[in-house]
Amino acid sequence: MRVSNEYTLRIVPTAADLARSAADVVSETIRDKPDAVLALPTGSTPLGMFTELARRARAGTTDFSRTRFFCLDEYLGVSKEDPNSLTGWLFREFFTPAGVSAAHVHTVPSEPADAEAEAQAYEDTIIRAGGLDLAVLGIGANGHIAFNEPGSARDSRTRVLDLTPESRDQAAAYWQGTFPAPSRAMTIGVGTLLDAAKIVLMASGEAKAGILHAALRGPISPAVPASLLRPNPEKLIVIADAAAARDL
Ligand code: GLP
Repeated sequence: MRVSNEYTLRIVPTAADLARSAADVVSETIRDKPDAVLALPTGSTPLGMFTELARRARAGTTDFSRTRFFCLDEYLGVSKEDPNSLTGWLFREFFTPAGVSAAHVHTVPSEPADAEAEAQAYEDTIIRAGGLDLAVLGIGANGHIAFNEPGSARDSRTRVLDLTPESRDQAAAYWQGTFPAPSRAMTIGVGTLLDAAKIVLMASGEAKAGILHAALRGPISPAVPASLLRPNPEKLIVIADAAAARDL
């Protein structure tokens, strides 16, 4: 483990180690505060962590019965029941197998009548919950965190934005169904994430090595949204497997 004046960095050998290490941060957070407020990501990176956390929940070693959850982001125009929705992803991969009550899960509006008002309401709900105790994040190929695409401001809040062509391509790779992958999303903002008491940024695989290096060692700039998490020595824990950490 390396502690710098900008973040704590844990480099672990494999994706399985990454899953356990990230799950440990979640378990410790809940052990210290059973009614903690967590924000969780989608994507392939956290899947191993979710499997591990669901196993711990079933084994009774991590108790999510009082934990409150916020989804980080969602496509616009995709119903929550659609298998492609990010909300559906989180229920399938984590909430349902971990036995989390749907009543404890806040989901990002996906079909808002008034996007601005509903984004503000989501932000207000986080504040009313006492703020995020832990935000768990992956990193997009272009450096996005949640769906804060390049150009996102450090003080941005929950809002709707257009996805970049790279993110649309990434979404399309997972997409199943007859209508095209969406081009807009609602996401928790960078500022919302920076207000969390603790932030875990996960990166796995060689394909993330370049962007992780840019996020951690490059300029702090909206051009690479994950870089905006720095400097944050008290809060930010970066966990990367050896492949993703290749250039660090
Ligand atoms: C998605 C999500 C992000 C996620 C990222 C990386 O688009 N909005 O929250 O961190 O892309 O996904 P993956 O882990 O599959 O590389």
